[in-house]
Amino acid sequence: MSLRARVEELPWYHVMELPGGVTTPGVDDPRDRLGLLELPDDMSGLTVLDVGAWDGFFSFECERRGAARVVAADWFAWKQAARGDKRSFELAREAFGSQVEDVEVRVEELSPERVGTFDLVLFVGVLYHVRDPIRALDAVASVTGGTLVLETHVDLTLRRRPAAAFYPGTELAGDHTNWWGPNAAAVEGMLRAAGLNDVRKVFPRSRAYELARAARRRSQQGRAVFHARRRSEA
Ligand SMILES: C[S@@+](CC[C@H](N)C(=O)[O-])C[C@H]1O[C@@H](n2cnc3c(N)ncnc32)[C@H](O)[C@@H]1O
Repeated sequence: MSLRARVEELPWYHVMELPGGVTTPGVDDPRDRLGLLELPDDMSGLTVLDVGAWDGFFSFECERRGAARVVAADWFAWKQAARGDKRSFELAREAFGSQVEDVEVRVEELSPERVGTFDLVLFVGVLYHVRDPIRALDAVASVTGGTLVLETHVDLTLRRRPAAAFYPGTELAGDHTNWWGPNAAAVEGMLRAAGLNDVRKVFPRSRAYELARAARRRSQQGRAVFHARRRSEA
């Protein structure tokens, strides 16, 4: 069976260009978000953990940039048929001839004993899906040897004090797996509480952008990206 036919048989989250001119019919095109993450162009020698990898777009991208080792981790999208299908990730890996490893683990269960530690940890589009974000960030921080790249939905963006909107039902995008909309100050505070005390917001960079975004959308919701690491003591 051709790659195209095999792709068409599976559910896809990510739009991905596979070799041979086959594009996966995903519901999410991650290519726009990629630039916002400010990943290094050259990842030679780096070990990478992609937490909540789903079909693996960001894992394969890190491998393409030369990472020495990439591990894709997920649970719901691979284990619960209603959400996704791990065979999509596996087919993409085969199509790319990729060495990306996979581990089925819940965010909350990440630990150095379970998965090791990594130079770069991607936590992209996952924070607002977890019921207990502080516990999740503790676990993610425990496997972060270098830099954590965190991308998330944010809410209450006009408030400077740490705050988070709570979505007990389907308030956010009709998805009952969306629980929290922290603002940037809350994300930064949680990262520091998890021991990653050197935190930089890389998107959006300016308050003016945030104000303009809120005015344009008449909403305090948006996305934000942070880089966080442990500050080495002088
Ligand atoms: C919105 S998708 C983001 C996928 C990908 N990282 C991206 O940004 O395109 C959320 C992902 O997080 C995973 N996820 C959510 N909660 C999780 C948890 N507690 N443990 C492991 N994975 C989780 C889902 O299975 C899904 O793959």
